[in-house]
Amino acid sequence: MTTARAHTNIALVKYWGKRDRQLMLPQTDSLSLTLNEFYATTKVEFDPSLTADQITIDGQAVSGKGQAKITAFLDIVRQLSGKNDFAYVQSTNHVPMAAGLASSASAFAALATAAAGAAGLQLSRRELSRLARRGSGSATRSIYGGLVEWHRGTDDLSSFAEPIMEQVDFPIEMLAILVNTKKKKVSSRSGMQSSVETSPYYPAWRQVVVDDMKAMKKAIADRDIPTIGHIAEENAMRMHALTLSSDPAYTYFDAETLTAIRLVHELRDSGINAYYTMDAGPNVKVIYDRHDRQAILDKLSPVFGRERLVVSQPGPGVTIIDD
Ligand code: DP6
Repeated sequence: MTTARAHTNIALVKYWGKRDRQLMLPQTDSLSLTLNEFYATTKVEFDPSLTADQITIDGQAVSGKGQAKITAFLDIVRQLSGKNDFAYVQSTNHVPMAAGLASSASAFAALATAAAGAAGLQLSRRELSRLARRGSGSATRSIYGGLVEWHRGTDDLSSFAEPIMEQVDFPIEMLAILVNTKKKKVSSRSGMQSSVETSPYYPAWRQVVVDDMKAMKKAIADRDIPTIGHIAEENAMRMHALTLSSDPAYTYFDAETLTAIRLVHELRDSGINAYYTMDAGPNVKVIYDRHDRQAILDKLSPVFGRERLVVSQPGPGVTIIDD
């Protein structure tokens, strides 16, 4: 039996599209910040007496599509290890509120590490990153803490994440505005596929990411939070332009998303270096220097309520937890 904990990550240069859906190879590189506040803890135990995988998430039995996805992932671990038993999987999401920020990144990074351990596989972090990738692309990066780069690679062996700065030594912070925590209508998986197949802007996006990766790595080396924030914001909006330019078009924006964006612009107009990013849902994440935290909370709290604002520092990579 092995228990592992993995933290979620938010991309500063987004992954939005696969070129191999079987091996989960991405179209582009990407780069993220692992967050301290949001994580999943997952326990795996293989048991010869089981006739199917038994999965619970936050105490609820998982069936249907969710179960199929996890069983398909465990099949990869079974194949790698030669262990043919089914498994008990118990996972708990740790989020400050029952919020929509429990993500597949922390889930599959924790599952990969716990399942590999329980199956007796001795995997390096690079191998764990490649394994986590097979569950969910963003999970590739959650094996590591801090600022992390996922190399798109050319095949299964070369597509893995690597830390750029695991112990972040400058005061970057992220604040999540919980705009709407309901389940999203278009999953990232189907959304990105539609963008790759139908958006005429997709070829331009590939070039955007090449340029942004380079500029982002320089900004990180310079510990330049305004430039990091600026690139992340521009990159996120260009990713969201792929959703609007798909056929059929779709969007992850809510009315309140636009309110949050307007407030971040107002903060900037008043001289505070705050920037926003968004993933496949309406929640907005604000990037800033922690010395500006109070000014940002003062601006956002009257509109959203303090309980819908979650401040997070950079977080650690995956860990095995002793029972
Ligand atoms: C917008 O990793 O959830 O958060 O690989 O199909 O499981 P699958 O998708 P997922 O997509 C994440 C998309 C994103 C950007 C990012 O995390 O880079």
